[in-house]
Amino acid sequence: MYQDIEILWGEGRARILGNNYAQILTLSLDKSSGSGFRSRHQFLFGKIDIKLKLIPGNSAGTVTAYYLSSLGYAHDEIDFEFLGNLSGDPYTVHTNIFTQGKGNREEQFHLWFDPTRNFHTYSILWNPLSIIFLVDGVPIREFKNRESLGIPFPKNQAMRVYSSLWNADDWATRGGLVKTNWTQAPFTAIYRDFNAHQACVWTSSSFSCSSKYNPWLRYSLDAIGRARLRWVRRNYMIYSYCSDTHRFPQGLPPECSFPS
Ligand SMILES: *[C@@H]1O[C@H](CO)[C@@H](O)[C@H](O)[C@H]1NC(C)=O
Repeated sequence: MYQDIEILWGEGRARILGNNYAQILTLSLDKSSGSGFRSRHQFLFGKIDIKLKLIPGNSAGTVTAYYLSSLGYAHDEIDFEFLGNLSGDPYTVHTNIFTQGKGNREEQFHLWFDPTRNFHTYSILWNPLSIIFLVDGVPIREFKNRESLGIPFPKNQAMRVYSSLWNADDWATRGGLVKTNWTQAPFTAIYRDFNAHQACVWTSSSFSCSSKYNPWLRYSLDAIGRARLRWVRRNYMIYSYCSDTHRFPQGLPPECSFPS
């Protein structure tokens, strides 16, 4: 963790704990503010995993975000956001993809387990063929490269990993109806096993990455992967922009003509 990650903001609310062999990172949120970290490196393609145990109990109003972003003008971004909920009510996993500054590609899911009881692995696989979001190795969303059909795909800007925990009780839980209960603060999410060894590190002076040595760079879902993806989407998807015809009265975005 020390080698790969730097605390970005939040004073003492973000901490890396442990020794060289076993480390965890914690982000917390209290009434004053949240906290966040980022990866030291920038990446261009690869598979990046982290294990995360979300805020237990009443986490309503909180958002734990974990994403790749190039930041800046016309940024690319691949987002996981975990929207908290009242005790016993399910977290929502919110996902989005920005290409050249344009997002509006939200999809939301519930999970098939309680993400606050144990660590689970959340992965972003990003290669020139597609972007795949995975939870414990199960694909929940795939965004294919269809540039040949004029649909933009992020592939020219390196991205860093970011994560932050903040208060978003104006919109996060049931659309903002349920507010953060500050008597439960501080709220803490715990991370471990950040793994970017299967991603290509990009620096201004060097970039070399070969699919010969990294099979994820040419990975695409096989029949089993596609069946699992369909299982998740049939049973756990609660929102897709591609079904939101009210939002796009002029017609759905072009990638929506190719259902997963
Ligand atoms: C919270 O729980 C309610 C009730 O089960 C559910 O409809 C909602 O999707 C959950 N998530 C959020 C972020 O509101």
